[in-house]
Amino acid sequence: MARTVTVAVLFSGRGSNLENLIRRFHDKEFGDKRVVIAPISNRPDAPGIELAKSYGIDTALIDHKRFPSRGSFDEALVSNIEEISPELVVMAGFMRIVTEIFTSRVDAINLHPSLLPLFKGANAIEESFGSGMRVGGVTVHRVDSTLDGGEILDQRCVRIEEEDTLESFREKIHKTEHELLPQVVAKLLRLTE
Ligand code: GRF
Repeated sequence: MARTVTVAVLFSGRGSNLENLIRRFHDKEFGDKRVVIAPISNRPDAPGIELAKSYGIDTALIDHKRFPSRGSFDEALVSNIEEISPELVVMAGFMRIVTEIFTSRVDAINLHPSLLPLFKGANAIEESFGSGMRVGGVTVHRVDSTLDGGEILDQRCVRIEEEDTLESFREKIHKTEHELLPQVVAKLLRLTE
């Protein structure tokens, strides 16, 4: 019988990367492993919650506004993750800076829409597009206590063409994210078809 491998996916918004991971991995068998995606959101209004529900998957909600400090939120988040005891924790559009309470207890990876170490932070797509560079890109990196600064696991370039607008560039970034993140997840979990 296949062994269940849980992947916790932390998100705050739209959830297109969450959906992509669900479609690619959830409830599917890879050799002797069966993958389960366990979504966790910090925002009750995140559209990704409904999206996950449409696949029959409930999201654990840990609303950061209900906690008096960053630390107490991180405590609750880490407890929730430890209960699930996932093989891998993926941040995909999780718009929270985590403290050492999190990074000392959880090994996580993060998806970032730029070629790190360039354009850290929340406006990476806009800054990358406005930089004058002819390439932007996507990075998956380990999460440590620095902002978008952990070990880089993989990256893809996205060209910025003359005719690109911010919106067309954004689309290309998301498409590339949807290719890169599952590849890194499959590699880290050593999933074989
Ligand atoms: C992605 O561009 C990710 O790189 C960034 O936030 C966005 C999340 O998109 N950190 P979605 O919620 O997965 O659609």
